[in-house]
Amino acid sequence: MKVLVTGAGGYIGTVLVPLLLEKGYDVIALDRFFFGRTLEDKGIKVVEDDVRFVEPDILRGVDGVIDLAALSNDPSGELDPIKTWSINYLGRFRIANLSKRMGVRKYVFSSSCSVYGFREDVADESSSTNPLTTYAKANLKGERDILPLTDKNFSVTVFRIATVYGYARTKRMRFDLVINAFVRDFITKNKISIMKDGTQWRPFVHVWDVANALSLALEKDENGEIFNLGSDDQNYQIFDLAVRITKALGKELNYEWYGSPDKRSYRVSFKKIREKFGFVPKYRAEDAAREIADAIVSGELDPNDPRYITVNWYKTLLAKGELI
Ligand SMILES: NC(=O)c1ccc[n+]([C@@H]2O[C@H](COP(=O)([O-])OP(=O)(O)OC[C@H]3O[C@@H](n4cnc5c(N)ncnc54)[C@H](O)[C@@H]3O)[C@@H](O)[C@H]2O)c1
Repeated sequence: MKVLVTGAGGYIGTVLVPLLLEKGYDVIALDRFFFGRTLEDKGIKVVEDDVRFVEPDILRGVDGVIDLAALSNDPSGELDPIKTWSINYLGRFRIANLSKRMGVRKYVFSSSCSVYGFREDVADESSSTNPLTTYAKANLKGERDILPLTDKNFSVTVFRIATVYGYARTKRMRFDLVINAFVRDFITKNKISIMKDGTQWRPFVHVWDVANALSLALEKDENGEIFNLGSDDQNYQIFDLAVRITKALGKELNYEWYGSPDKRSYRVSFKKIREKFGFVPKYRAEDAAREIADAIVSGELDPNDPRYITVNWYKTLLAKGELI
């Protein structure tokens, strides 16, 4: 079975591609490689191109598409909202339509739990949405326009992914994700920055668990469905999460507040993915924290690589005219 992964050079993609290879898939890895050439072309076909412009022929003979390409968080999405819209929504809407036209049978769309925005109760897939940022709005619009492409020959699966964490052990790392950022700050400054006011809820999931769930979607027959991707017991309030990570690292909690109070807060139910996919995450935040800390201390992972804070790197590319 041949699979095209877009955004394959990203944090999730660089974990997913080797996993798909291990499972015996033929992989085409498409990416603009904004963060450098993060994938080697050993055993896969690497295509440096853009979801907005790539020739449809890339989809010839492809059975499944996992569409990850995006400006991948809220702050990056606000740098140039029109560009965000053109990549995250229009670019992936284009790939989904081309996939259907070229006879692909399975299409997987990576959305985000950020479509829930702010809510007091626990959100499941049938809950109302409340996207607060360009990034979240583009994801929701993508879901709404791509899901109806489903028919008996073309199956769309949408994953609303929780906030990811963990050391991918690849050439792409993200220290803009909260758990990874806490660990980096502890190791480099002995003090973490917590976004005000710390009571906001977020669901979390390890990057290896995400890759596993995405690969499972290729094997299931779920048609035209949305799944929250994460686990019920990894919904945390941000201050409590800071306490957990502190304990896991054997540190004293030393922190400062930053930002204005976060308007985003959501707790999410993951019952559907557990029941329909049998998906139960294997990894926990505490284990990932120790792993990231060890990798930084041993020199394996550079905490100051400028590409690892996504929004800052996209600002640099924009200033150089390289994010077109
Ligand atoms: N990491 C998370 O916490 C998280 C949570 C929810 C959803 N997601 C979604 O998962 C997907 C992957 O996220 P990630 O964490 O790996 O982000 P990432 O930024 O590491 O990877 C995104 C990749 O897409 C590529 N890309 C961007 N624009 C492109 C374009 N026009 N054409 C081709 N390639 C392009 C980038 O070069 C990058 O390699 C994204 O859609 C993101 O919104 C991520």
